[in-house]
Amino acid sequence: MLTGRFPQLRLRRLRKNENIRRMVRETVLTVDDFIYPIFVVEGENKKEEIPSMPGQFRYSIDRLPEIGELVLKAGIPAVILFGIPEHKDELGSDSYSEEGIIQRAVRKLKKECPELYVITDVCFCEYTSHGHCGYLACSGEVCDVDNDKTLELLKKQVISHAEAGADMVAPSGMMDGMIKAIREALDSAGFSDIPIMSYAAKYASAYYGPFRDAAESTPAFGDRRTYQMDPANFNEALREVALDIQEGADIVMVKPALAYMDVIRAVKETFKYPTAAYNVSGEYSMVKAAAMKGWIDERRVVLETLTSMKRAGADLILTYHALDVAEWLKES
Ligand code: PBG
Ligand code: ZN
Repeated sequence: MLTGRFPQLRLRRLRKNENIRRMVRETVLTVDDFIYPIFVVEGENKKEEIPSMPGQFRYSIDRLPEIGELVLKAGIPAVILFGIPEHKDELGSDSYSEEGIIQRAVRKLKKECPELYVITDVCFCEYTSHGHCGYLACSGEVCDVDNDKTLELLKKQVISHAEAGADMVAPSGMMDGMIKAIREALDSAGFSDIPIMSYAAKYASAYYGPFRDAAESTPAFGDRRTYQMDPANFNEALREVALDIQEGADIVMVKPALAYMDVIRAVKETFKYPTAAYNVSGEYSMVKAAAMKGWIDERRVVLETLTSMKRAGADLILTYHALDVAEWLKES
């Protein structure tokens, strides 16, 4: 690799002007890489800004086509939907009801914006009264998510999403065996053509703070460290991804993105699978806050960050910046 010696080898030659820089550029960000997250709430004619995520909104179902159109016009191929139901209970039953918020949202979007690829987040935290990502079992004072009972409920949830017309499902609850359970449920219900994007290596992260405000999904007690991964662990991420692939995941995700670039790189290199990175709410809001203060150049920081995620190995990026970036990419 080390050929030539200074001054014969002058790397600045290929940086001389924008033409040559474009010619040797290794990573190019495009709108094809993006999945845009959308929050859906009950009610009518609602487009309410999320205080902790400036520039992001919660939409009522009747106003979803408006944002769907914007996404399509920007050239972004896909959205991922998060539902915030009015009614929460111990089972998170709205999440698998035919008339649940997400089922109605999917039907509306697929009807009004048929070209849009609609992915659903599959989890329970927005739907349960306790805010955990599954069914809670308690022994005495100690409660924890019951893995296998949650798998049964997850099967009902994905089938209801598929019946509503979802193009892809994205389970985010970090239950053991969830991909196998979901794959089997979809296949036996006649949905063998619906792919699964697994939140395979999802860390117990403080970067989800703004999202939990937006989605009302903060756990009522405790935290998610009995199911989401310890940020200190790397090898375990590879084991999580290996298992999910074995169980039938079509796309594997690393989440969050910015603090886990090493994991993104290793997952891509190890498995050569379509790999997604979730540029999460806290990453978004930090940039927005600093930009609003005039401390950073938002456009340059966002483009640099997302390009770096792709350079690290992400094929797909779930990002709240998607609409802005689409605009910037058109301009440049
Ligand atoms: C819930 C879920 C979370 C996110 C996506 N799905 C948060 C959590 O685990 O509490 C985070 C998204 C973000 O922060 O942007 N399963
Ligand atoms: Zn959850």
